[in-house]
Amino acid sequence: MQASSVEIRKVNKFYGPFHALKDVDLNILPGKVTCLIGPSGSGKSTLLRCVNFLEEYDSGEVRIDGQLIGYDAPGKKMSGRKLREMRRSIGMVFQQFNLWPHMTALENVAEGLIRVRGLPKAEAQERASAALTKVGLADKMQNHPSRLSGGQQQRVAIARAIAMEPRLMLFDEPTSALDPELVGEVLNVMKTLASEGMTMVVVTHEMGFAAHVADQVAFMEKGELVGCDTPSRILHQPDDPRIQSFLRTYHERNSF
Ligand SMILES: Nc1ncnc2c1ncn2[C@@H]1O[C@H](COP(=O)(O)OP(=O)(O)O)[C@@H](O)[C@H]1O
Ligand SMILES: [Mg+2]
Repeated sequence: MQASSVEIRKVNKFYGPFHALKDVDLNILPGKVTCLIGPSGSGKSTLLRCVNFLEEYDSGEVRIDGQLIGYDAPGKKMSGRKLREMRRSIGMVFQQFNLWPHMTALENVAEGLIRVRGLPKAEAQERASAALTKVGLADKMQNHPSRLSGGQQQRVAIARAIAMEPRLMLFDEPTSALDPELVGEVLNVMKTLASEGMTMVVVTHEMGFAAHVADQVAFMEKGELVGCDTPSRILHQPDDPRIQSFLRTYHERNSF
């Protein structure tokens, strides 16, 4: 698999007067997993959405494999066609699974291949079936979302993304809507993807995943990227008091 790199340089984003991203710099190497952590409202989703230009940034650069996304040149917006072309290589998985309720798992995964990629139905279903098998749902392909658990629905959403053969996967709190006992099956699918060399950016509160799967962990607070380093440096020996305080609160909440 070809894996993408992402370079984020001095990105600023405003919502009206509110400064949501402040000179954010982040380097993501091909085939590596980056976990984005930090308090709610710190700008993690905003940053993630800037990577595929779901969110427009006001200044700075985001480059995928060296190519600027969203702009042809500073201040000059890219055409919709070119943006769609660039987005083809980027998969995204959200907290909410966003599956079509009236379609089976197989149809949900095949839909994009037919509509966006223009594949014939039989070929699309073959690829969809392979993607669903990969996420451990070979026996659930004919189920509608209402007959799947949350963990299974999220695995369908991951299958839908990987069926498009992305070179970069963005995850925004993919397990936050799940009952605790279903989190593991989704994280395991993500671990497998990571081990196959997919470039992944994962916004998460799962510190175990960040500690054991990430190549680097980036911590955000109040729109600022406070630190980015190996999981052990950030999670076990953070030198910034903001990271220390966040982790203290996290451990207090998660110990009993
Ligand atoms: N569309 C929007 N309009 C105005 N403010 C927004 C919008 N989206 C996010 N924000 C604000 O930007 C900040 C960062 O939000 P977000 O990126 O969603 O944080 P996180 O994902 O870390 O919880 C928050 O204070 C949020 O209220
Ligand atoms: Mg968020």
